[in-house]
Amino acid sequence: MAIDHPALNILQGKKGLVVGIANENSIAAGCAHAFRRAGASLAVSYLNEKAIPWVEPVARAVDAEIFMALDVEAPRQMEAMYAEIERRWGRLDFLLHAVAFAPKDDLHGRVVDCSMDGFARAMDVSVHSFIRMARLAEPLMTEGGAMLTISYYGAEKVVDHYNVMGPVKAALQAVTRSMAAELGPKGIRVNALSPGPIATRAASGIRNFDALMDEARARAPQHHLVTIEDVGAMAACLASPYARSVTGNIAYIDAGYHVMA
Ligand SMILES: NC(=O)c1ccc[n+]([C@@H]2O[C@H](COP(=O)([O-])OP(=O)(O)OC[C@H]3O[C@@H](n4cnc5c(N)ncnc54)[C@H](O)[C@@H]3O)[C@@H](O)[C@H]2O)c1
Repeated sequence: MAIDHPALNILQGKKGLVVGIANENSIAAGCAHAFRRAGASLAVSYLNEKAIPWVEPVARAVDAEIFMALDVEAPRQMEAMYAEIERRWGRLDFLLHAVAFAPKDDLHGRVVDCSMDGFARAMDVSVHSFIRMARLAEPLMTEGGAMLTISYYGAEKVVDHYNVMGPVKAALQAVTRSMAAELGPKGIRVNALSPGPIATRAASGIRNFDALMDEARARAPQHHLVTIEDVGAMAACLASPYARSVTGNIAYIDAGYHVMA
């Protein structure tokens, strides 16, 4: 069901950075559309040259004012993105980190068998990159700000086939709380969103994902699957002054799945 976005303009005049759009089905794409509809100006990143044909149409649709490569594993690309934001805007109001990765063998195997390198790489790309983004954003959030990342229920409970991403998302949620505590006095809020399963490219790397979606639909109190538009609506609200007293939160957008035993 599409959301009829009211013209609330809750992000009017705000500048935001969106990292994690792979294509139009990405959760970050749903968020970028919601941010733009709410009035924000956006900087959008793409992973590498190969990704441009899929990311550029989204960037164009949301009138991205900055469009640059950002592979969080590539030295200096993140610094270059922030330098451009400073040059163009002089400040940043919010950011979305929607980035996750684990090497296939580690993602598909038991946590017990996870390699040291695979674990470290999954943690670096999926968690420490959020810390790096926050550190570079802090001096630009001169009027306060909002930082968002995307977690999953597998952080809290063992979800079949989620494997190493469970501990990785648990760390991401702990980082969200720590950074909320550390940056709160500066008026910077840090929150995580926890959507139910959505068929994206990253999700296609998780075995038996169809079964996960079937189970979500069957057990969630609302008995429907959530959409990237649902996540975008919540992200826009959390990025806006409407959520001025909300920080360190894990916001579930899962049709109520997480309350079920
Ligand atoms: N799809 C779901 O069911 C679901 C549910 C809960 C949480 N999430 C989380 O949502 C976030 C977005 O994933 P998605 O489902 O939209 O899939 P997606 O494949 O559309 O997005 C994942 C993004 O991570 C980016 N990425 C991976 N390695 C990177 C790197 N080194 N540098 C920069 N970017 C990199 C990819 O380029 C891609 O844009 C992830 O954190 C994912 O774990 C997804």
